Amino acid sequence: MRKLSNEEIGNIGLYEFQGYIGAMTSPTFGGWKGVDRLIELLDIKGMERPRILEVGCSTGYITRYVAQKFDCEMVGADISELLIELAREESERLNLANVSFERANAESLPFVDNSFDIVYGEAITALVSDPVMVLKEYRRVLKKGGKVATLDLFTNESLGSEFYQEMKNIMIMSNIIGPETDIRTLKEWENIFKEAGFNDIKINDYYEDIFVREYSFAEKIMISIRVIYNMAINRGLRRKLGPMLKFVKKFQNALKGDSFGYFIFTGVK
Ligand SMILES: C[S@@+](CC[C@H](N)C(=O)[O-])C[C@H]1O[C@@H](n2cnc3c(N)ncnc32)[C@H](O)[C@@H]1O
Repeated sequence: MRKLSNEEIGNIGLYEFQGYIGAMTSPTFGGWKGVDRLIELLDIKGMERPRILEVGCSTGYITRYVAQKFDCEMVGADISELLIELAREESERLNLANVSFERANAESLPFVDNSFDIVYGEAITALVSDPVMVLKEYRRVLKKGGKVATLDLFTNESLGSEFYQEMKNIMIMSNIIGPETDIRTLKEWENIFKEAGFNDIKINDYYEDIFVREYSFAEKIMISIRVIYNMAINRGLRRKLGPMLKFVKKFQNALKGDSFGYFIFTGVK
């Protein structure tokens, strides 16, 4: 990927910045254990070369993980052209023949009806403003009997409205969500999955390892240096990341309680 100018870095989204500096290499909610749980619930092992779509694939590290683990055809989709470029580069470098990537908006996927055996998303379905519409898109592209799974963050009432609003404002400022997106409770999610029309709905909740990206020591050093350097020279980035970094301590304390968890929803078309 070509080197971006300071101005371009100031204009890209938070996830794109993370991808660009090499920080999109491991999952946020539940870490790799969460991804392994999702894969286990999808029961990919017994399927005959399934065609699988990952929505919100970012740099494609989970897409590649699944592609290397199973005999399957993987498609990764993300709204960001920059992240898709990084995903393609790394997969070409690894010479993976069973993976491809498409720039796509989850709200209107560029795939024909009934074309995937599995659709899953990790930390994406809760970011969109209309999750029912997005889940209906997942359903549309799934074959009859195809399986869906999403892994996302939820909150519960113990969070308190003041903290909720502060967190939401910071997520909006950092371009993580738009003003129309809500951070939902499990009960609200259950209704959303029902409304999207899936059968055999199951929702599993977990409370450990939320917001822990599992970086190696070398990655931690490299990422810290790149964040500090870019924030020092880039006002746009400081504006975007500054409030989030200030909020981190408070947020980490909130994570120690039971106000946040991650869930894995599974369903069948
Ligand atoms: C929180 S990241 C999760 C990525 C990855 N699963 C992870 O945990 O690192 C959300 C990803 O969803 C993508 N995204 C956000 N809205 C999207 C949409 N409407 N359609 C497709 N991708 C979207 C973002 O570009 C980002 O790569």
